[in-house]
Amino acid sequence: MMRCDATQAWAALQGHFEAHGRGFDLREAFARDPGRHAALCFEAPEVFADLSKNLLDTATLRFLLDLARECGLPAHRDAMLRGDAINTTEGRAVLHTALRAPRGQGPHSEGVHSVLDAMLAHAEQVRGDAEITDIVNIGIGGSDLGPQMVVPALQPWSHPRKRMHFVSNVDGHDIAPLLRRLDARHVLFIIASKTFTTQETMANAQTARDWYIGQGGRDIARHFVAATTNVKAAAEFGISTTFGFWDWVGGRYSLWSAIGLPIAVAVGAEHFRALLAGAHAMDLHFAQAPLERNLPVLLGLLDVWYRNFHGFTSRSVAPYHQGLARLPAYLQQLEMESNGKRVDLQGRPLPFGTSPVVWGEPGTNGQHAYFQMLHQGTDVIPVEFIAIKTPSHGLDGQHHMLLANCLAQSQALMLGKTAAEAATETAPTAAADIDRAVLARHRSFPGNRPSTTLVLERLTPQSLGALIALYEHRVFCSGAIWGINSFDQWGVELGKALCNRLLPRFSSGDLAGLDPSTAGLLARLLA
Ligand code: F6P
Repeated sequence: MMRCDATQAWAALQGHFEAHGRGFDLREAFARDPGRHAALCFEAPEVFADLSKNLLDTATLRFLLDLARECGLPAHRDAMLRGDAINTTEGRAVLHTALRAPRGQGPHSEGVHSVLDAMLAHAEQVRGDAEITDIVNIGIGGSDLGPQMVVPALQPWSHPRKRMHFVSNVDGHDIAPLLRRLDARHVLFIIASKTFTTQETMANAQTARDWYIGQGGRDIARHFVAATTNVKAAAEFGISTTFGFWDWVGGRYSLWSAIGLPIAVAVGAEHFRALLAGAHAMDLHFAQAPLERNLPVLLGLLDVWYRNFHGFTSRSVAPYHQGLARLPAYLQQLEMESNGKRVDLQGRPLPFGTSPVVWGEPGTNGQHAYFQMLHQGTDVIPVEFIAIKTPSHGLDGQHHMLLANCLAQSQALMLGKTAAEAATETAPTAAADIDRAVLARHRSFPGNRPSTTLVLERLTPQSLGALIALYEHRVFCSGAIWGINSFDQWGVELGKALCNRLLPRFSSGDLAGLDPSTAGLLARLLA
């Protein structure tokens, strides 16, 4: 497969960028083309996307779609969905889509559905067990962020008498205060770890087990379950109830597997299945929709356009729904662990950028923190707004305020305000002695700052499943264009290995052979 920067489409995009991209003005584009909004809005299952406030037009999209074809994106997608070992550095297939395929469809259906049935039956059993009031998920990264993001998002569907807790950090400040509040008779610990070797999770699991026994707990089998591919290690830990999954499920793609057990306990089997169904609907769209209307493809191409042609290094995500407060953290792992790579599949260093930094907070909170920089800072940072049409509370007035804020922000980013416009406004009295022209420049906005707005009718298990799958496939698309392996994560290994080598020095105090900075810091921490 030809590397993206060697394709004809890439060269054409470079020419197009110089001619129409660098100086692209959104306000002029809307004035020029009354059909722009309609032409750049797209529908996928459960998700409507307005791409019209982005620095592109239909011609740009055509060039980007040429790039997708020339890079063999459809064939690479089909290889993933078929179960080819596209994760070449680990020799594995990438089949999270199989986890949400209906029974009898997709690869590994029998195995997938037998674990799913068992996991959901256990979730229902826990939901029906009045003695269990607190469920503690102990896991990190992909064994934490998915459930931790989804559980609050689906709060309206949650069991009213089950409290869900998430412990991830090896820092004892995470688990210790929680344990102080719990009663061992009423807790279920879910030890979630694909490998069952992760330092943080093993340390917290050990602490939880010691605490449970210290509290007089005798029934590990009832109070500890595991979600893991390493059933043997879970058994050695003393856990007899284990829900397995497979090496073809990447950690950051695993919330659909047994790792989703906390979600299933919170919302029940029926809603968990709806989450899967929403994701499956998006899978079908990704697999079947023509590229020019395929939303994950279009969003992935937009990311390439911004990263490699405009040179934007980050993207901010602003979900206007408090239940999606952890979505940016979830996306950080999904996108940056997947596409934060510097060599292609053949191991050749890449001369172009890959994953942008992904960051954000729920709206409207972000507006009162870093939106200043988005509007007036020196960097252009595309923003992705997520709006939910119908809330699950009855506070309509507040919901209108929320949505008005959401629209106003993308409008302000795009429209801006000239210094001349700012000069016509009454200056605040506090600034009375500053030159009016200088003040007007401080109060002006460049505008022309791009954003995408995704709209969901309601945030339901089904629509959330579709939204998450949309993000998964979008990351796949940009990764496929860049020709990288989006499914390994070797970049986390060096720090783990060095940590394991440093740990004994905390007991021995041995500083020999360390670099001077690390030796100095260790000496200070041990003094
Ligand atoms: O360190 C990174 C990582 O391997 C992630 O990819 C993964 O989601 C996380 O650690 C947790 O791994 P495990 O589920 O094996 O405990």
